[in-house]
Amino acid sequence: MNAIGPMKTALLIDESKKIFKVSRQAFVDPVILDAERAQIFDKCWLYLGHSSELAKPGDFVTRQVGGRGILFARDGKGNLNAMLNTCPHRGTQVCREKHGSAKSFQCFYHGWVFGLDGTLRSQPGEASYAEDFKERSTSSMQQVPRLESYRDFNFICFDKNVESLSDYLGPVREYLDVICDQAETAMTIVGGTQEYSMRANWKLLTENSIDGYHALTTHATYLNYLKATTGGLAQVAFEGSARDLGKGHAVLEYKAPWGRPVAQWIPSWGEDGKRELSRLYDGLVNRFGKERADRIATFNRNLFIFPNLVINDIMAVTVRTYYPAAPDFMNISAWALAPKEETEWARKYRLFNFLEFLGPGGFATPDDVEALEQCQRGFRNSSEAQWNDISKGMGKTNPSYDDEWLELFTDDAIYYVPATDLAVDASPDNNLFYIADDRFRLSERVKRLMKRTAHAEFPHSKTRHLVSNVRIRKRIGDDLEVSSAFITYRTKDGVTDVYFGSNRYRLVPGNGTFRIKEKRCLLDSEGLRAQGRVSIIL
Ligand code: FES
Ligand SMILES: [Fe+2]
Repeated sequence: MNAIGPMKTALLIDESKKIFKVSRQAFVDPVILDAERAQIFDKCWLYLGHSSELAKPGDFVTRQVGGRGILFARDGKGNLNAMLNTCPHRGTQVCREKHGSAKSFQCFYHGWVFGLDGTLRSQPGEASYAEDFKERSTSSMQQVPRLESYRDFNFICFDKNVESLSDYLGPVREYLDVICDQAETAMTIVGGTQEYSMRANWKLLTENSIDGYHALTTHATYLNYLKATTGGLAQVAFEGSARDLGKGHAVLEYKAPWGRPVAQWIPSWGEDGKRELSRLYDGLVNRFGKERADRIATFNRNLFIFPNLVINDIMAVTVRTYYPAAPDFMNISAWALAPKEETEWARKYRLFNFLEFLGPGGFATPDDVEALEQCQRGFRNSSEAQWNDISKGMGKTNPSYDDEWLELFTDDAIYYVPATDLAVDASPDNNLFYIADDRFRLSERVKRLMKRTAHAEFPHSKTRHLVSNVRIRKRIGDDLEVSSAFITYRTKDGVTDVYFGSNRYRLVPGNGTFRIKEKRCLLDSEGLRAQGRVSIIL
């Protein structure tokens, strides 16, 4: 670790030059960590635990949260209590077990006994104390200043004047709703905690959790493994975007080809799995309608709740919280979250899926750990190599880790280039087209065009699309049928090809804009003469 004195500039941002850089000092300097402890961990809402972990009166867990030892217990009335795990007598940790069920807590040093809500019940040698001793608030265990919950996620704050948890979470609540609504009754923490560490600054795990950009490189072996399993992956492309949710919170929401126990089927789950997943999906449609059901079932979410909670709703759901022990070291605790009413089949496959990717023994998390630890090692050069350059997405209206162009298309969009001797409304189901892509193939086409091995387009050609005569032809319900004339020039290696014709679009409204549900390019030329091929998108 290298301490390099007071921080001069934490961020270097230049909107006009599309620059966004973060000083590496933020990841190595102990002075900054002290400031983070005082200004972030002592002031913000911090995740403590899930209500399902304390199912019955008397259930308790002990946790380290924000650098303090906390005793979290459900009392006889069913209320949840978060107490500072320190004896009012001489400071000993009152409860030394990780979890369990108790009628009361007894401090082993001098034997004081506390109720499940921390109230002093008795102490040896009571006669030697003042008569009102037990009634004094200072004689009981101290409650954490604030404890509030949302959808069974319990948070504490050491600052009693903090805003309500609900206000603090703001738009995060809606994402928690989407995650929790996959359960018909309630979500529950599955037994077992993964405790591990990384020799890296705690903020690197935050960044990693909402960085969809690294999946294809860092997790290549995981994806290859999935491809090699029976029947492979779902026909779904990696697509999505990260969003700032304010107050430091953020989310990455995306589609991915892995199986989701609620509810995206993959061939290795067989016919039993298919039946189970369609039952779950139908249940979601019944409860929420198709649009929300699709969002719950087929979208993945990496939700970051500032400052140190990540809920990954991906091939399983993991709840992860982490805390810095030093500028270059963090401790992580992780749990699996699942619908309480889930069948044995679904629970088994969910946990199988979880371990494939997630946790210190998964096929992916260890690669993340290595990446973050390597960043931290690289920061040894931070006196000279001062900046992390994370300018990707600057100046883009809709930052995405995929091609923005694809965002123009709906999830069920189609893109057609029919042969020129066919009727304008011909179907690719029984006619030969040049191109007939569904959304998956279209997105793979876009990715392929960017690769060196797409030989027709590498080195990249230059293209220019000219559009004129835009007309709204028809309104079909809320949808619009629109046509336009186009000329597309493509130039490469001294040869310029011209493609021309008309486009027919079906546009659907949503979120204050229109997206393309169908694009049909009708070439005016005699087939693809003289171009010979169409390796670009018209
Ligand atoms: S320190 Fe707990 S009883 Fe004395
Ligand atoms: Fe990762």
